[in-house]
Amino acid sequence: MIALFDRLLAPLLRTLDPEQAHALALAALKHAPLPRAAPDDQKLRVQAFGLTFPNPVGVAAGFDKNAEVPDQLLRLGFGFVETGGVTPRPQPGNPRPRLFRLDADAAVINRLGFNSDGVEAVAARLAARKDAPGIVGINIGANKDTTDRAADYVACIERLAPVASFLTVNVSSPNTPGLRNLQEATALDDLLSRVIDARERAKGAARAPLLLKIAPDLTLGDLDDVVGLARRHRIDGMIVGNTTIGRPPSLRERAKATEPGGLSGRPLFALSTRMLAETFVRAEGAFPLIGAGGIDSGAAAFAKIKAGASLVQLYTGLIFRGVGLVGAIKRDLVDMMRIGNFDTLGQAVGRDAAALTAEPWPA
Ligand SMILES: Cc1cc2nc3c(=O)[nH]c(=O)nc-3n(C[C@H](O)[C@H](O)[C@H](O)COP(=O)(O)O)c2cc1C
Repeated sequence: MIALFDRLLAPLLRTLDPEQAHALALAALKHAPLPRAAPDDQKLRVQAFGLTFPNPVGVAAGFDKNAEVPDQLLRLGFGFVETGGVTPRPQPGNPRPRLFRLDADAAVINRLGFNSDGVEAVAARLAARKDAPGIVGINIGANKDTTDRAADYVACIERLAPVASFLTVNVSSPNTPGLRNLQEATALDDLLSRVIDARERAKGAARAPLLLKIAPDLTLGDLDDVVGLARRHRIDGMIVGNTTIGRPPSLRERAKATEPGGLSGRPLFALSTRMLAETFVRAEGAFPLIGAGGIDSGAAAFAKIKAGASLVQLYTGLIFRGVGLVGAIKRDLVDMMRIGNFDTLGQAVGRDAAALTAEPWPA
């Protein structure tokens, strides 16, 4: 069924405008009679943030912004889904066109700017599936025109903590002016105090893990501060990371590369994996990390794990490789564990981190 989904849909999606293609993919997922995913190999099981993940491969934020298809994504074989980003009030995001496919680079540039149905609509959808199996988290952001950004995160947490498996504080979207300044030490200290406090106060919630998602463009000095604060505030984990505002010189689609926005996909792999390793050595095991950025194969997923990721997420790889990618990654991970003599994925986490931090900075 999954192979059929890719074979029928992929050629059509490639002919469409990227945003129309995405809407069609969501509609197809909503209506396809997907069978329940086959049980995963026990070796792929991961314990993190107090949750048990059947496998480490998740859907990154942005694919299912409004929590319309989380259970269908789980049926494709993902070990977890991060829905969102959601903002407190509905907002349209930036004017179109705002999503660009760089086919020759297996990359995407987006400047969607948090188009969102708003927290009420998303909370209702998550509440309706709350008792269904599977780990479904939610990525939260701030409205573009808000004056107190931290208050927006607090509002989202209060509403979503009772219905989400985990919450991700996204301070790394490049498409809301000023949002990434929340990664600066003083602002982040204040934000983390307030979001942790909101999570503790959220009524009726089993204590939802709170994760912090950062940009791959931070300086290492900034990263020292961010990881230090995440540790001090006892954040449950970090996601490394979001899209980059950088444009690697290797990009072949030079005209599209000039579009403003965040770059994702294969050209992001080297930088995001290096930042993951840098975060791992600074976190010293205080919390688990999720690695995202340019994963489009089992080898790329395993490289993220060895750089320090307990779990991985992908989005752009799905656009170029189709939904069969998740099964391929899981099969390859099991093979690579056998070849490397790893009984659990945990044994591989961070194996290469120190060595990676000694390499020249990726171009
Ligand atoms: C179209 C699009 C929308 C995204 N929206 C969000 C978002 O709302 N919140 C967020 O934290 N990350 C968002 N991301 C970033 C992804 O979650 C991910 O961190 C990034 O794309 C790197 O992974 P990839 O190379 O596998 O795509 C978005 C990415 C894309 C391509």
